[in-house]
Amino acid sequence: MDWGLQNRLARFVKPGSGHTVMLAADHGYFMGPTRRLESPRATLAPLLPYADAIAVTRGVLRTSIPPTSDVPIVLRVSGGVSVLKEDLSDEAVTTSIEEALRLNVSAVALSVFVGAPHEHQSLVALGELVDAGEAYGMPVMAITAVGKELEKRDARYLSLACRVSAELGAHCVKTYYCEGFDKVVEGCPVPLVVAGGPKLDSDRAVLELCHGALAAGAIGVDMGRNIWQSDRPVAMIKAIRAIVHEKASVREAMDVLDGEKGRAPAPRRAAAA
Ligand code: 5RP
Repeated sequence: MDWGLQNRLARFVKPGSGHTVMLAADHGYFMGPTRRLESPRATLAPLLPYADAIAVTRGVLRTSIPPTSDVPIVLRVSGGVSVLKEDLSDEAVTTSIEEALRLNVSAVALSVFVGAPHEHQSLVALGELVDAGEAYGMPVMAITAVGKELEKRDARYLSLACRVSAELGAHCVKTYYCEGFDKVVEGCPVPLVVAGGPKLDSDRAVLELCHGALAAGAIGVDMGRNIWQSDRPVAMIKAIRAIVHEKASVREAMDVLDGEKGRAPAPRRAAAA
């Protein structure tokens, strides 16, 4: 792997733990002003010190993240369809690699829609983005999107989608956690991070998801709604950091969340040391 590409990856996959806590806030590109992300700047500001990277579009980056911030950026570069359409798979690359370089981001990300009506165009777009990324040392993250078919989130489907993404050259893959997630990890030769999906019923369920994903071999999370739609988002991201970077159990992470035992993980910069 090229030095520049490795260096960009190492900005957010922390060399100390080999893990990452990415904060996903790219929902608006097809969902509009999602609950509690109506004002991205206000939602994200208190969370930035605890994120190893933030996943956003260029619009949110320009308007809502100070250019003086040192948080690594994973730039979403696919889009072209909104939640008003039944078929969400009709995406293309909407942001060029030159723009990603100008914005000094650490990786670019696009959705792939395996098995969906526009499977072909999303997979070809992934291959082309990898070619462009490799030319400039820019890592590419494939996101195994399921559109509105949330029931697709099982090990059989996700194994297929992750493996296809890796075979086309993705440097890392974001997917969903599921029962039998170890099989998804086993079949995917590049690092995996997990999304959280829609808000879960309890805080414990969020932490169990993170713990299960890490135990099965994910290198971390790229999570949005279960952090910033939480009633205590900063405590939640700290609790997730404890699992991802400090091997905390679910119970220990619950203690961090509740502030009971004061096991408060250091913010991003210190955690990387
Ligand atoms: C939006 C995305 C999100 O980044 C991804 O789903 C993670 O966010 P969440 O944890 O809220 O599911 O790809 O298109």
